[in-house]
Amino acid sequence: MWRRTRFTQRLGIDYPIVQGPFGSGLSSTRLAAAVSNAGGLGSYGAHILGPEEIRATVAELRTRTGRPFNLNLWVPLPGEAALTLTESEFAAESARFASARAEFGLPAPTAPATYAAADFSRQLEAVIEARPPVASFVFGPPPQAAVEEMKRRGIVTMAAATTVDEAVALERAGIELVVASGSDAGGHRPSFLRAAGESLVGTFSLIPQIVDAVSVPVIAAGGIADGRGVAAALMLGADGAQVGTAFLACDESNASEGHKAELVKPSARWTSLTRAYTGRLARGIRTPMMMELERDAEVPPYPIRAWFTSPLRKAAAKAARPERQALWSGQAAGLVRRRTAAQCFAALIETTERAWRRSAAPS
Ligand SMILES: Cc1cc2nc3c(=O)[nH]c(=O)nc-3n(C[C@H](O)[C@H](O)[C@H](O)COP(=O)(O)O)c2cc1C
Repeated sequence: MWRRTRFTQRLGIDYPIVQGPFGSGLSSTRLAAAVSNAGGLGSYGAHILGPEEIRATVAELRTRTGRPFNLNLWVPLPGEAALTLTESEFAAESARFASARAEFGLPAPTAPATYAAADFSRQLEAVIEARPPVASFVFGPPPQAAVEEMKRRGIVTMAAATTVDEAVALERAGIELVVASGSDAGGHRPSFLRAAGESLVGTFSLIPQIVDAVSVPVIAAGGIADGRGVAAALMLGADGAQVGTAFLACDESNASEGHKAELVKPSARWTSLTRAYTGRLARGIRTPMMMELERDAEVPPYPIRAWFTSPLRKAAAKAARPERQALWSGQAAGLVRRRTAAQCFAALIETTERAWRRSAAPS
């Protein structure tokens, strides 16, 4: 039976389907709870939240669902939190976005003490204290002591790998579930051992290689938007499938209405990986804005570029100008529909059953 895997047994959930977390304020407790209540694992991307907000989010999730859910953080890469600009570099990057700010009536920024969206160690403390059933990480494992503390407190740990080497490193760090994130996936590439641009293995190639290399359960992510993808991931040896873009388009997600509308247009079939929005490689729908930013000779690294574009992206969402937003999307957007999370989840189950029966039918 496809539903019973080491992953569903470990968490005591009904279906091996994870709603992938979304960072940058695009997650919602309604979405995560809807998926958990339907028998999957709902997730909340907390990487821009402060410690108090993390505690409040976990408390809210507990009121919305009695089932397991996942809270997700971004681990800073070495040196990332200390990255800064000289005065003249700051002036040049600020000037780069002067006309865009004028378009939305935004003031010129002043140099911050840090470009980091949040203090990771304080976020981690809050997660450990709030004790979500599952805590997941991108850009590497959290420090060893934290992994051990989470284990002691009964928090199941999960982290993303984009290569076999990363999966092996996560298992060695004591992570219990490895998400194999293929380059088809929407959003940022969570690579941490080599540059993301050198770690672009597609989901279909990545899953069986990671399954062969580690003994912990593997959750496949990237390009899975209906049951054919779920069944294929399980056939390739995964113990679960993580679905992002299909849930991002659901009513309950915190993506703007404009973003959701763009995800279901034929133009969403045209995505690419770019560093232009945040300084870190990420997949989104190609828009004139993406192409314009890609003409920059130099893009400052994450989190600096993200700090400069974040207010602009937020203002564009508020002004219903999706063409000026970062329209994150995976390569399977062509399979995505506008609907509720419960409908999306039920369709995933039904189409997985169908694909599974077909694969088992005598020819
Ligand atoms: C808008 C967006 C934001 C994302 N943010 C995060 C994040 O903060 N943390 C994380 O682990 N994964 C993040 N992801 C990855 C998803 O959780 C999931 O693994 C991925 O979307 C799966 O591929 P798919 O989009 O092809 O379904 C994000 C994806 C999208 C589309």
